[in-house]
Amino acid sequence: MISQNSIQQILSRIDIVEIVGSFVKLKKRGANYLGLCPFHNEKTPSFTVSPSKEIYKCFGCGRSGNSISFLMEAEKYSYVEALRWLAAKYNVEIEESETSPEYKQQQQVADSLYIINNFAQKFFTDALFNSEEGQDIALSYLKERGFREEVIRKFQLGYNPEARDGFTKAALASQYSLEYLQKTGLVNVRDGNSYDNYRGRIIFPIHNQSGKVLGFGARIIKKNDKAPKYINSPENEIYVKSKILYGSYFARQAIDKADECLLVEGYTDVVSLHQAGIENVVASGGTSLTPDQLRLIKKYTNNLTIIYDGDSAGIKAALRGLDLALEESLNVRLVLIPDNEDPDSYVNKVGASAFIDFVNANKKDFILFQLDIALKDIGNDSNKKSIVVNQVAETISKINKAEDFTKQQDYIKRCAEMLKIEESGLHALVNKFIREKVNKEESRVNREQRFEQENINNETISEADQETLALFNRDEVHEQAMIRSLLEFGLKQWNDEMKVAEYIFKEIEENHLEELIDNRELVRVYNTYKAWYEAGIEPTAKNFLYHDDLKMSSLVVGIMDFSYEISSNWKEHFEGHIPTREELFAEEVFSTLNYLKLRKIKRLMDENQRDLERSTAAEDQMVLVQTHQHLKQMEIELTKQLGTVIFR
Ligand code: UTP
Ligand code: MN
Repeated sequence: MISQNSIQQILSRIDIVEIVGSFVKLKKRGANYLGLCPFHNEKTPSFTVSPSKEIYKCFGCGRSGNSISFLMEAEKYSYVEALRWLAAKYNVEIEESETSPEYKQQQQVADSLYIINNFAQKFFTDALFNSEEGQDIALSYLKERGFREEVIRKFQLGYNPEARDGFTKAALASQYSLEYLQKTGLVNVRDGNSYDNYRGRIIFPIHNQSGKVLGFGARIIKKNDKAPKYINSPENEIYVKSKILYGSYFARQAIDKADECLLVEGYTDVVSLHQAGIENVVASGGTSLTPDQLRLIKKYTNNLTIIYDGDSAGIKAALRGLDLALEESLNVRLVLIPDNEDPDSYVNKVGASAFIDFVNANKKDFILFQLDIALKDIGNDSNKKSIVVNQVAETISKINKAEDFTKQQDYIKRCAEMLKIEESGLHALVNKFIREKVNKEESRVNREQRFEQENINNETISEADQETLALFNRDEVHEQAMIRSLLEFGLKQWNDEMKVAEYIFKEIEENHLEELIDNRELVRVYNTYKAWYEAGIEPTAKNFLYHDDLKMSSLVVGIMDFSYEISSNWKEHFEGHIPTREELFAEEVFSTLNYLKLRKIKRLMDENQRDLERSTAAEDQMVLVQTHQHLKQMEIELTKQLGTVIFR
């Protein structure tokens, strides 16, 4: 955990122009900076950075955020990783804070699991090499399959003997807790008896990036239809399957050197290829690649080559990971091993150099490969063809980083040729998918975001952004304006007795306005502000801007750049001097609260109207009509007061 103090230090040094500028070429344009958006393809720049507000916004695709969210998006960092990157950049020494008790507890469990796994690995290796059973049953099996002692030792393979509880006994005798032994999956308890979970199996330890054992894969030796071929560690504090690639500890340097990562399905594929001198190889365990696994690969290379056996069920799973890989700008290629072989058996059959030759000769571009297969299936069926065209367009639309522009164009050209369709048509379709995706994301974050237009050319506002403006929801604008007043003016003095924030709290509470705010995220910002304020913190927009709750921070980014206009009444009133928002803050606070009150009155009037329609007693009707008149009067007054400042 990074201490609050370090976070403050990092945040105080952030220079958004410098940070974004290390990824995007920026040109000064008035008070802002302009560049080509890194998040979508464009030829004219619409990506704007505001140094004073410490935010960016793209008028093309609508993405916006702060320095940290930029790093998270551009580099796929987590919040903490982004902070560490910034700390390194600005030479801030990170001080780790007192960790929470839960976190400490979790670390302790993790440490214990590592220790148990280390003990277990040694126990299993010892059993493999030094026990008669291990040598006779397991070592001989491995040798028969062609694994040499050297590679068996390197990968720390082992054997869990057949005896019911050989390992369990040894572990308990060494004082390891039964609870943690169960957590590792090494020991099971049934009817009060504990026994070895991996009895009679070959053990493949799974290492993390620094060589510590996270868990195990355990392969059955004797064919048995009732038992699963492999048992893998259960998920626990250290074994998180989605973040693990088997073999990555042994492959990292070779991947770096070859600038290519080979991905296979199984444990034995990795070990065999290593033995053959092909070391840049990891395994996914036959499931589809997760974002974390892709990120792991991307740390070393952009070139991913998937080598699966031709009729493997795993190939479908691997294909599912493809779109993600494309989004990460990975070059994905595919090689299928023929004749019911897998990489392990094939390399044993033909030898290392023939294997490498085969891979190089048969590497197929993933997208073209997929299309090739689909084309064979189409025949003369035009329905099928249009489905395939759509699929291809969607896939190509995922290649959408600025630096991949040429690559994307190239795919469009080649796929259009293969499909025998117009290139421009495919182009339009790809763009449609890009737009759809952006729109989806946009509404996910905050559709109503609005960027102050000072110093920004009108031409830079794209059609997409105009559309967004058209969708502007007036009601929500007022909710946003209220929160914005709080963030911007909350700490100013309202009158002799209270600050603006306190006035807003009071008004909201007295009139029960909170429940009128439809956007519950805004209510969250309000409640957080209030909690901070009451705890003696003096909150500003910045506290939210860098909040690790990204929903909240991006919402605040959106509110902050929400612009407003002073009505012509005011301009006349001040005879030429146009007051700044600072000068008008009291007006603004007043009006935003009035808008909410007005909304409340409208709702009360609606309710009243419904009651009136339902009521039959004359007396009731009298009261309801009076209420209506009363509400109407209030509405008129509020509306009059509101005539002064107009929000748009
Ligand atoms: P395979 O069945 O292809 O096994 O499963 P393999 O790795 O080639 O093993 P050998 O050569 O037959 O000894 C591929 C991978 O799928 C996962 C394992 O990670 C395995 O290496 N798997 C397979 C399981 O997790 N559980 C299973 O029951 C089977
Ligand atoms: Mn195999």
